[in-house]
Amino acid sequence: MVKLLHDKDADLKALKGKTVAVIGYGNQGSAQALCMRDSGVKVIIGETKILGKKPNKSWQKAVADGFDVMPISEAAKKGDIIHMLLPDEHHGPVYETQIKPQITKGKTLSCSHGFNIVFKQIVPSKDVDVILVAPKSPASEERKAYLAGFGVPGLVAVKQNASGQAKKVALAMAKAMGFTKAGCLECTFEQETYEDLFGEQTVLCGGLVELMKAGFEVLTEAGYPPEMAYFECVHEMKLIVDLVYEGGIQKMNSIISNTAEWGEYEVGPKIITPAVKANMKKALKSVENGDFAKKWLKESRSGAKTLLAKREELGKHPIEVTGKKIRAMFESKSK
Ligand code: NAI
Ligand code: MG
Repeated sequence: MVKLLHDKDADLKALKGKTVAVIGYGNQGSAQALCMRDSGVKVIIGETKILGKKPNKSWQKAVADGFDVMPISEAAKKGDIIHMLLPDEHHGPVYETQIKPQITKGKTLSCSHGFNIVFKQIVPSKDVDVILVAPKSPASEERKAYLAGFGVPGLVAVKQNASGQAKKVALAMAKAMGFTKAGCLECTFEQETYEDLFGEQTVLCGGLVELMKAGFEVLTEAGYPPEMAYFECVHEMKLIVDLVYEGGIQKMNSIISNTAEWGEYEVGPKIITPAVKANMKKALKSVENGDFAKKWLKESRSGAKTLLAKREELGKHPIEVTGKKIRAMFESKSK
């Protein structure tokens, strides 16, 4: 059984006198930097003022939030812990050009997803510590939980421990972000990376979206009103998942009707058939052998054309068009 680490297992003293340079003030960067600063950690922000050809909103946001914001290489120079929170596909090139020259002996390279270390897009020198501190949550929920005096669960991992202090530093960062209030697991970089990619592809994002879309399409193609199909297959998803989150599947089952519970046992396995599990196994293999990473990096480096096309296509799908209409209705009611 893995051990859940809590506040008592971590000590903020490991960060005393150290500066954490958060590289990238996006979703995770902003949430994590704000939480660490609120916990008394010295945080600076490394960002890019002009991204592509446009002024970068993340830079402006970090300034508005009261941080000392500077170019990435300068932050990497000033920081003792360089916590990389850029989109994963950009870590490699940014590390090579702006971070590597600054990450000298004794410093710590940190991240919230092991992708670039595991798939060797970043190969740090042996005299630095390499750690991972990751929330198991989207950024908005992470910040909300912290402000509510709690936290979301997290993971910590150590890849290189040149100083002998790597785990202490990782746990202190996890504590500063509230993760050890909910509970933090120690794992390896490989476990975090493979499990995270597998989860988002097959269950959380890929699986969930395809499941909702299929249900919505079946109902609307059979002539049911799209608004009703949306309530049924998308909107209610949150209410059901909230119950599972609170008390597990049995708690959810004890609150839905007996008819719904019977349908779950009788029909569920006919929908998510053994073939689905076989496909999931294939997805896990392609994550573990690096095929998925190779394909994604190739896509991203050739302009992410397929990603952008899919994004646009989804915006036109009736499920999204209907959802927008429904949310507008809710909003006008609450005004
Ligand atoms: P994000 O998409 O919000 O981007 C972060 C910032 O990076 C942007 O605001 C932008 O200013 C900067 N940026 C973008 N492209 C750049 C480039 N080419 N060069 C320099 N700077 C650039 O990133 P997000 O989603 O917060 O992810 C950051 C890290 O956190 C990733 O490693 C991700 O896997 C990890 N993570 C993300 C979670 C999430 O909920 N979004 C959950 C757990 C981990
Ligand atoms: Mg993920």
